[in-house]
Amino acid sequence: MISIAIDGPSGAGKSTISRTVAGAFGYLYVDTGALYRTIALYVLRHHCDPKNAEQVQALLPELKVDMGYQDGVQQMFLQGENVTDLIRTPEVSMAASGVSAHSCVRAYLLELQRRLARENNVIMDGRDIGTVVLPDADVKIFLTASAAVRAKRRFKELIAKGEDTTFEKVLADVEKRDYADTHRELSPLKQAEDAIVADTSELTFAESIALIQKIITDHLPKTSV
Ligand code: DC
Repeated sequence: MISIAIDGPSGAGKSTISRTVAGAFGYLYVDTGALYRTIALYVLRHHCDPKNAEQVQALLPELKVDMGYQDGVQQMFLQGENVTDLIRTPEVSMAASGVSAHSCVRAYLLELQRRLARENNVIMDGRDIGTVVLPDADVKIFLTASAAVRAKRRFKELIAKGEDTTFEKVLADVEKRDYADTHRELSPLKQAEDAIVADTSELTFAESIALIQKIITDHLPKTSV
C-alpha cells in the first residue's frame, strides 16, 4: 500500500489540495483533523472543558467516532449521527486544538489512522502524520503558507458561509491555533526531517495542485507510479 503524509498548519489548504490530489491518484483521502473535531464536538456537547485532560478522558469510553465516504467525500459520525457539517465552526476549531493536546485522545485515534493506511492507498493530512502516525510514509509533504495568507483565505470562506467576523479576528485565531499546535508537548506540528516543504503563499489553487502532484510523482517509488 502507498501512504502519502501531508502535514502543515491550519488553513494552508491541506484538505482541499489533498482531496483533489487523492482523487487524481485514485487514493483514499483521510482528513485526520476531522477526527479531532468530532471528539471536540462531543466534549462541547457534554459541557466539558476541551483543555481539561481528565474531563476529556472520562468521556472517551462512551465515545463512538466513525468515518465513512459518500460520493467520495469523507463523512464523520458521532454516536451514529452525521456531524460532517457541524464540526466546521470556529468554536469546534478551537476546541479541537484543545482536545488534540491530550495523550488519551491521540492514543485513541492512532490505531484508527494506521489501520486506514494499512488497508488503503492513502493521502492522509494532519499535523503529525509524517512524524508519528505514518513515520514510514512513502512521501512526506509539509504544506504551508504565511499566516496572513491563510487568514485571508479562511476569512473569505467564513464570510461566504454567512458568519459574522472580521479579518483581524480570523488572523488572531489562526495565530493562536498555530501557537497551540506547534507548542504542545505531544506530537506538536513540526516538519518531519524527510518531508518536502511546499509553500503555497504565492500560488493559486491550480498551481498548488500541480506542485503537490509533481512532488508525489517525483518521490514515489518508480514501480508504483
Ligand atoms: O486540520 P484541522 O484544522 O481540521 O485540525 C483540527 C485540530 O486538530 C487542529 O487544531 C490540530 C489538531 N490535529 C492534530 O493535532 N493532529 C492531526 N493529525 C490533525 C489535526
